Amino acid sequence: MLKDLRPKITAIISDTNTSLDERLQGICKLLKESVPYYDWVGFYFKNGDNEELKLGPFAGEPTNHTIIPFGKGICGQVAVSNENFVVPDVQTQDNYIACSLNVKAEIVVPLFLKGENIGQIDIDSNTPDPFTNEDERLLEYINAQVAEIL
Ligand code: SME
Repeated sequence: MLKDLRPKITAIISDTNTSLDERLQGICKLLKESVPYYDWVGFYFKNGDNEELKLGPFAGEPTNHTIIPFGKGICGQVAVSNENFVVPDVQTQDNYIACSLNVKAEIVVPLFLKGENIGQIDIDSNTPDPFTNEDERLLEYINAQVAEIL
């Protein structure tokens, strides 16, 4: 059950002996190792005053897409829509940035700080159409927790 991950997330978030980036890294690693259909997990954050996202901590293969302009790709669209974006089949998306040819599906959930969309969690899956409401609720929970320590 995805819900069972919540206490583990809370434990990582509240570990004040580790830096913010280490905690975010820990969350990415936990998710990737615990959920079989999570193949790449990462955080993107707004890059200062620029209208672009910058890659933060992640787990999975390194990506070339460390900077994504607002509006570009699934991530860039979420930066301006402020809404979750669940893509069951990435091949159906014209505005999509491919990181790996193995990726079949993607979910991006915005991260709000004081009501402002300042980043997102992004998950790629090599399994077609794997995401449900449960994934959305878990990722919203995680982002709300992360906002508490930003
Ligand atoms: N596929 C994303 C780009 C980021 S990678 O998945 C790590 C997109 O279309 O925005």
